[in-house]
Amino acid sequence: MTNGRNEGRAVLVLGGAGYIGSHMVASLVDAGWVPVVLDNLATGHRDLLHPGVAFVEGDFGDRRMVVALLKKHRVQAVMHFAASSLVGESVQYPLVYYRNNVSKTIELLDAMREAGVRNLIFSSTAAVYGQPESVPITEAHSLHPTSPYGSTKAVIERLLTEVEAAHGLRHMSLRYFNAAGAHPDRPIGERHDPETHLIPSLMQVALGQRPGAEVFGLDWPTPDGSCVRDYVHVCDLASAHLLALEALLAGAPSAIYNVGTGVGCSVLEVIDSVRRVTGLPVPFVPAARRPGDPAVLVADADRIGRALGWRPELSDLDTIVETAWAWHRRG
Ligand SMILES: NC(=O)c1ccc[n+]([C@@H]2O[C@H](COP(=O)([O-])OP(=O)(O)OC[C@H]3O[C@@H](n4cnc5c(N)ncnc54)[C@H](O)[C@@H]3O)[C@@H](O)[C@H]2O)c1
Repeated sequence: MTNGRNEGRAVLVLGGAGYIGSHMVASLVDAGWVPVVLDNLATGHRDLLHPGVAFVEGDFGDRRMVVALLKKHRVQAVMHFAASSLVGESVQYPLVYYRNNVSKTIELLDAMREAGVRNLIFSSTAAVYGQPESVPITEAHSLHPTSPYGSTKAVIERLLTEVEAAHGLRHMSLRYFNAAGAHPDRPIGERHDPETHLIPSLMQVALGQRPGAEVFGLDWPTPDGSCVRDYVHVCDLASAHLLALEALLAGAPSAIYNVGTGVGCSVLEVIDSVRRVTGLPVPFVPAARRPGDPAVLVADADRIGRALGWRPELSDLDTIVETAWAWHRRG
């Protein structure tokens, strides 16, 4: 709980029981911040909650409750990880996605305005770019999201600029590429139900919990024919947020940053890494391309390096896979 000693160090973490949010909470605690978690456990997990950290089970779209929380804990900044974030599901249920990601974020921004909290770090995504016109992708690349999920994030990025102009709410939008890996020292990692993410799916294959992985397309214009993505370790993502938080509170201007490594790995390279790290067979079956999947998504992450001094430390592929494997094999 926030107390006199912790005055000025409270950060409200929306979605702190989720994959990235739980790693953020661990980093905040380690850095001496006082996180307060708000999560409705829609896709989060109680066992990812950090021991001793204040947790409120509730919806971030509940404006009155959020105002009360912001005031009670004298929150300095909000980190907004809470969202619905499956591309395919968003195509099926656009209204659900706009309600959770857009309508509720409007309530959140209004709550922050009312409580006088003026600092927000927003989880955006490479999905705002859509099919890249050039790779690596800089922040100046045009935004043409190809899914309702990507659109909801682009809408909020724009709204944040407008809300800053009107109400002085300062923000950093971090456009993550592919978050991956697990905490090297704590019992937290990536788990979804159903599991659709590549690395956790491969872990299930290695553990014998599913027969094989599907590779969506082996005829892409890439060196080995499989899609290429930019994997960033979840703890490196958390360190980017810490730097963004410190900069924002020190008066840095609002900004948008890509968070990726600038290095692309193909799906087949990831499978090879899982075989190498686990020493186990990892069979896969070729499947049809998924509509809307770009062949290559790799960040130009120079801007965040230059502005905030961020450098990924755990994001080489084998380290990502080793940390994920250590977490998954604990069961
Ligand atoms: N995982 C990735 O590779 C990736 C890439 C780009 C962007 N992002 C973004 O990062 C954020 C976190 O992603 P994640 O992978 O940790 O997902 P996640 O599903 O594990 O975490 C989201 C958390 O938010 C909570 N939540 C959702 N709606 C809520 C609501 N209305 N009220 C309260 N809590 C709510 C969920 O219960 C969950 O704990 C999301 O905004 C996502 O769009 C993730």
